[in-house]
Amino acid sequence: MSAKNSNASTIVTALVLCLVCSVLVSAVAVGLKSKQQDNARQDLNKNILIAAGKFNPQTDSTSVIAERFASFDVRYINLETGAYATDEEIAAAGLGDVNSYDVAKAARTPNLSTPLENDTAGIGGKPKFSKVYLAKGADGNVEELVLPIHGAGLWGQIYGLLTLDKDLNTIKGVNFYQHKETPGLGSRITDEPWRALWVDKQLYNEDGSMKMAVTKAGTAKEGQVDGISGATLTIRGVNNLLQFWMGENGYKPFLDNLKANKADSGQGA
Ligand SMILES: Cc1cc2nc3c(=O)[nH]c(=O)nc-3n(C[C@H](O)[C@H](O)[C@H](O)COP(=O)(O)O)c2cc1C
Repeated sequence: MSAKNSNASTIVTALVLCLVCSVLVSAVAVGLKSKQQDNARQDLNKNILIAAGKFNPQTDSTSVIAERFASFDVRYINLETGAYATDEEIAAAGLGDVNSYDVAKAARTPNLSTPLENDTAGIGGKPKFSKVYLAKGADGNVEELVLPIHGAGLWGQIYGLLTLDKDLNTIKGVNFYQHKETPGLGSRITDEPWRALWVDKQLYNEDGSMKMAVTKAGTAKEGQVDGISGATLTIRGVNNLLQFWMGENGYKPFLDNLKANKADSGQGA
């Protein structure tokens, strides 16, 4: 057998090929990382616009996303004080660009969250910080707020965005943009006709107690959203996460402070 056809030369050739290919794949992965991050950011921005009723995936081109999203301000919220986070708080917590801040990840990071006694929504812990997307009108005034919400569904975490009117009580839209629920069953939480049931529902009663709920299909009372038949477990998860995020451990103290014009004090109520 010539040296050219020996087992050793076959193995060496295979190894060199593997090495060259892995270097190429890694180089492409590293080279595309910022592009992937840009695409993920654009996708989230699109979902924020959908939640706010400012983008229709059926009729709008993705080229309008950047321009429409430009009317949004993004700010950190300190969920412990119920106020916008101050620069000092943001620096002390070591938080970076608010656009890249991942609330769900923070909820599972010990120094960015506090333990929850009763984690009904399957969040992990109470994140110390969240963020809000403020949609401004042509006059520069805030017209809507988009709040990130998430929690456990039947098969995994459900990630959504809830839009509130400037009255801080009326729901203007919801968008569950990432989940692991079964197509045709739990995944129907993404259907437009079902999401439309949320629009114009009031979050709170006059006394501040929670009014809005998502119920088992066929059992909704006035002011509640009827669930989806065949998807009771997913719907239970959606209601649990809604109650968490709009309750005392979530955004309620912040919304109360905004109503009382105290959210910019950094001190809470
Ligand atoms: C393969 C499979 C996938 C399922 N996926 C879901 C799901 O994504 N969400 C859900 O709520 N129920 C799902 N179910 C159904 C639940 O087990 C349960 O039957 C259902 O939530 C009950 O809803 P109902 O009370 O409206 O009938 C699935 C069941 C099977 C067998």
